[in-house]
Amino acid sequence: MLETSRPFLRKWRREDITVLSELFADPEVMKYSDDGPRNGAQVSAWLQEQLKDIQGHEAFGYRAIELKATGQVIGYVSLSNAAARGETGDVELGIRLIRGAWRQGYATEAARRMIDLAFECENAMRVIGIVDPENVKSVRLLRKLGMTFEREVVFEGYDHPDHLYALDRKSATAHAR
Ligand SMILES: CC(C)(COP(=O)(O)OP(=O)(O)OC[C@H]1O[C@@H](n2cnc3c(N)ncnc32)[C@H](O)[C@@H]1OP(=O)(O)O)[C@@H](O)C(=O)NCCC(=O)NCCS
Repeated sequence: MLETSRPFLRKWRREDITVLSELFADPEVMKYSDDGPRNGAQVSAWLQEQLKDIQGHEAFGYRAIELKATGQVIGYVSLSNAAARGETGDVELGIRLIRGAWRQGYATEAARRMIDLAFECENAMRVIGIVDPENVKSVRLLRKLGMTFEREVVFEGYDHPDHLYALDRKSATAHAR
């Protein structure tokens, strides 16, 4: 389990299905996801994968964000090998929170801890975030984390460019000061 000031970042439990169902069914949360909201069967399959996949991973994978004060799970934060997206040597950050937990600084805290983990454990050259430029909340978050806009990327099957933001190891150290 990883600790930050207010949330823990922890492995998944079967009972997290309730909050995950809320998260993935919310059209506002899923607005910039190409697949849109997910149904119960899709969420169940997703959780099954996480229960398996996180085993043995030091940094990669999805973690539940649980508030220390209440024990409430408010979403997830993830790290993945960006080589799968054609960005060799980079680690990609992902995050989604339930709407009731937005604008309280939890995303910033959880994401900062994961960025540290990427540099500490995965020997990442850079941590990147790939966003729809219209997703202004995400863009603000990435900028607040010290990432800067690098270029447009167009993935196969997509009809619009996403924006790639990046933070390299050296800038991360400077940003943390
Ligand atoms: C993107 C997302 C994770 C950002 O979450 P968030 O709650 O807005 O992010 P933060 O936790 O950093 O909070 C940001 C705001 O809270 C405010 N804040 C920070 N700490 C605070 C605190 N302790 N108390 C109250 N407010 C606080 C900040 O001022 C900030 O406001 P700003 O946007 O004007 O700078 C969230 O909007 C989300 O889950 N969106 C849907 C999924 C999604 O698009 N994910 C990204 C896909 S790439």
